[in-house]
Amino acid sequence: MLVVGATGVLGTLIAERLAERGARLVLHGRDASRLDGRAGDATVAIDLTDVDAPEAIVERAVAALGGLDAIVVAAGVVGFDGVAETSGQDLETMFTVNALAPMRIISVALPSLLQSAAEGNEPMVLTISGIVSELPTAGLASYSASKAALAAYVAAAGRELRRSGIRLVDARPGHTETGLAERPLFGTPPRFPRGHDPAAVADRLVRAIEEGATALPPDAFAGA
Ligand SMILES: NC(=O)c1ccc[n+]([C@@H]2O[C@H](COP(=O)([O-])OP(=O)(O)OC[C@H]3O[C@@H](n4cnc5c(N)ncnc54)[C@H](OP(=O)(O)O)[C@@H]3O)[C@@H](O)[C@H]2O)c1
Repeated sequence: MLVVGATGVLGTLIAERLAERGARLVLHGRDASRLDGRAGDATVAIDLTDVDAPEAIVERAVAALGGLDAIVVAAGVVGFDGVAETSGQDLETMFTVNALAPMRIISVALPSLLQSAAEGNEPMVLTISGIVSELPTAGLASYSASKAALAAYVAAAGRELRRSGIRLVDARPGHTETGLAERPLFGTPPRFPRGHDPAAVADRLVRAIEEGATALPPDAFAGA
């Protein structure tokens, strides 16, 4: 299993839970020192804005695991700004990290996922777009748009690949207390009402992986 964004709060919690269950893991982050010593078969450190990142990440995972059964994409960046202020560079970075790189990772991994299905496994991909992909939010126009792009891609690709035996699921939790909002690519976060508990969200995501869930809309996280 490949975890993209395994140095983030949700990525770390998900990877820990998967490791406890005996999954063989390849962990991706952009900072090698934060991957050292983590449980897993291999690590790959590369920034998702690097044009070669999707190919490099998938190649490393396939080489380390001898194939690929599952991918979790838990990388993402947020930004807060008025529509007039967001720079072209920030917009490009946000779309690359939140949408283009994950889309490309899925596409590049497809031969391995098809091979896994042909071997009788149930390969899957989990992305985490968030509630904004359903409810585009004022002050979060570029974040909402990048996440909506990812959600649409996963929904359409999921329909395309269902008959091939590959399950694609996009999770859409609401605000979660991971501190993501305090690490924005740009802008200043507003005050959010108390969000979900990260551990409870990670539990729900791992349960969805295990139980074969095909949808994780915002209300799937009620009580988390
Ligand atoms: N927290 C929420 O309220 C919430 C709600 C719905 C959906 N989500 C989504 O859930 C996912 C996980 O978020 P989180 O809350 O766990 O936040 P987080 O702790 O900040 O994790 C974000 C991850 O993305 C990685 N990342 C950011 N920019 C990158 C880049 N240029 N190249 C490679 N990796 C990059 C970070 O790497 P570093 O560790 O190196 O910074 C980190 O691993 C994100 O996609 C987020 O949009 C979050």
